[in-house]
Amino acid sequence: MRNIKTMIEPFKIKTVEPIKPTTEEYRRKTLKEAGYNLFNIKAEDVLIDLLTDSGTSAMSSMQWAEIMNGDESYAGARSFFAFESEVRKLTGLKHIIPTHQGRAAEKILFSIVGGKGKTIISNTHFDTTRANVEYSGAKALDLVIPEGKNPSLIHPFKGNMDIQALDSAIREIGAENIPVVVMTITNNAGGGQPVSMENIRETKKVCSKYNIPLFIDACRFAENAYFIKKREKGYDKKTPLEISKEMFSYCDGATMSAKKDALVNIGGFLALNNDDLAQKCRNMLILTEGFSTYGGLAGRDLSAIAQGLREVVEEDYLAYRIRSVEYVGERLTEKNVPIILPPGGHAIFVDAEAMLPHIPKHQYPAQALACELYAVGGIRGVEIGSAMMDRDPITRENRPAKMELVRLAIPRRVYTQSHMDYVIEILDIVNQEKNKIRGMKMVSEAPVLRHFTARFEQV
Ligand code: F0G
Repeated sequence: MRNIKTMIEPFKIKTVEPIKPTTEEYRRKTLKEAGYNLFNIKAEDVLIDLLTDSGTSAMSSMQWAEIMNGDESYAGARSFFAFESEVRKLTGLKHIIPTHQGRAAEKILFSIVGGKGKTIISNTHFDTTRANVEYSGAKALDLVIPEGKNPSLIHPFKGNMDIQALDSAIREIGAENIPVVVMTITNNAGGGQPVSMENIRETKKVCSKYNIPLFIDACRFAENAYFIKKREKGYDKKTPLEISKEMFSYCDGATMSAKKDALVNIGGFLALNNDDLAQKCRNMLILTEGFSTYGGLAGRDLSAIAQGLREVVEEDYLAYRIRSVEYVGERLTEKNVPIILPPGGHAIFVDAEAMLPHIPKHQYPAQALACELYAVGGIRGVEIGSAMMDRDPITRENRPAKMELVRLAIPRRVYTQSHMDYVIEILDIVNQEKNKIRGMKMVSEAPVLRHFTARFEQV
């Protein structure tokens, strides 16, 4: 076999959507008006939008065909059964409950199992998960391995749970106060880092010892499965679907935002084995989302999810997906842009603290960097740092983040390599001119999930 090195996007483009450049002067003015919060900027004013990989995927022609194929019956729609069958085939879980997105599944789950005096343990809670846990009155505890907190340290599975810390935390807090342990795959807030199969298995062992159910936050399960295939002994011959099934075989339930690895623009689910809990969840679903065979979605969305779940585990898709993120990481590292290493599955996380040592933590270095990337290149990323970490719900003190990161999330099947080469060039320029970047002061904030609406001024 010939050794051809260029990896191409495994699709051709049927529909295009124009993007329009603006001037740096216009963008600086726009930023100021937006209170230096990139969530307040019109998407039209963004050139390359790396705010999130959530709900931003390009659907395939087969998925669009499924949109036409959707059954819009209120109850018992064909689309629901297609969706249910695909999710069950993947997860092996008994009860499959559709929700309009991931956080709706979290809201239902934690409003039932959470509450005052309870603690939810995770490798790292994503911000909406943490917020839903805390909103219920429960505490959210993160126990990722120490390697996962060191941005430049190379480790194949930086998303792993610290098994010993998990065991001692359970003994200290008391198993009766821990309704679920949540494994987030991949670990988004920790840099999109994968969790190994061994670690999922070990986590399950500890949970079983104390009779605590293990849930998987499955947003990016396929990317996690591909990392296991590439990095964990014994999995190189297995298909991503086989690996995914094994991951889910260790859990008692899962929440998923289908807006990620189901390659759709909206959707999610809650899946679980416990009949009693499932009944409670369905009751809550009907109250807040919709009937149990559509859960806040249109039939067509359920059909597109079913098709997306089939496509996302295809090996050539995953090879392209993981390699294209890795490519950006390699080029940035060559240019001395500090990023979390190795790159995760869905995003590049720039280490703003390392890049901007002149900006102290309380002046939100990652927020400052995200704004500068927009000003210089029209690129929109997101701060994952002390602004996002919010205040402690009890003491109301600011919670400094362990790392100050700018996440450049790469939408699935949307941008080509030349778009990414442009992003690399802009980051290089910003890095060379970094001494000009000033810190930020937060001048207004909401009581929860403040980063979405907070306003800033330049210091
Ligand atoms: N869990 C993880 C790990 C996530 O990354 C997200 C969303 C959710 C849960 C919630 O899902 O948005 O459908 O309600 N992450 C998006 C992001 C928003 O940009 O990383 P949702």
